[in-house]
Amino acid sequence: MQKERTFVIIKPDAVQRGIIGEIISRFERKGIKIVAMKMESVSRELAEKHYGVHKGKPFFEPTVEYITSSPVVALILEGNNTIEMVRNMMGKTDPQKAELGTIRGDFGQFIGRNIIHGSDGADTAKFEIDLWFKQEEISKYCRIDEDWLIE
Ligand code: RTP
Ligand code: MG
Repeated sequence: MQKERTFVIIKPDAVQRGIIGEIISRFERKGIKIVAMKMESVSRELAEKHYGVHKGKPFFEPTVEYITSSPVVALILEGNNTIEMVRNMMGKTDPQKAELGTIRGDFGQFIGRNIIHGSDGADTAKFEIDLWFKQEEISKYCRIDEDWLIE
């Protein structure tokens, strides 16, 4: 399977509630490689671009307010089938509907405070990575467990 990258945001509520480490741990323990990571206070301009596909929808403005309300942690994760795997680990958009065992299911309660973002497809991942990161912020390295994770 082709190696791919996805873009993740640990949202303001998760940063404020002190569960950055818990969330990153889940990706690490799954064997997913982190190739970029930074804390950022998101500008309105970046938030509006990131959520541009939702412009005009009733939740657009509250969602922009939410993501700009406090710092976030942005990551690029890399591996086989990583986009789908991360979406599955996140769970459904609404934490009330997300299964226990998923990040949103375990840590969240409301759709407007849903802990985490992850790209929903290859085109979105590319768009979001280019929007949030410069090339030089992305690291190239091998993890020592790669031969043991991938058959
Ligand atoms: P995300 O983009 O954050 O990974 O979430 P998603 O794909 O699961 O959901 P999406 O439909 O792309 O919605 C983006 C974010 O907007 C907020 N939202 N609120 N109140 C509502 O009905 C509603 N719907 C969406 C959430 O923060 C959601 O993650
Ligand atoms: Mg989305």
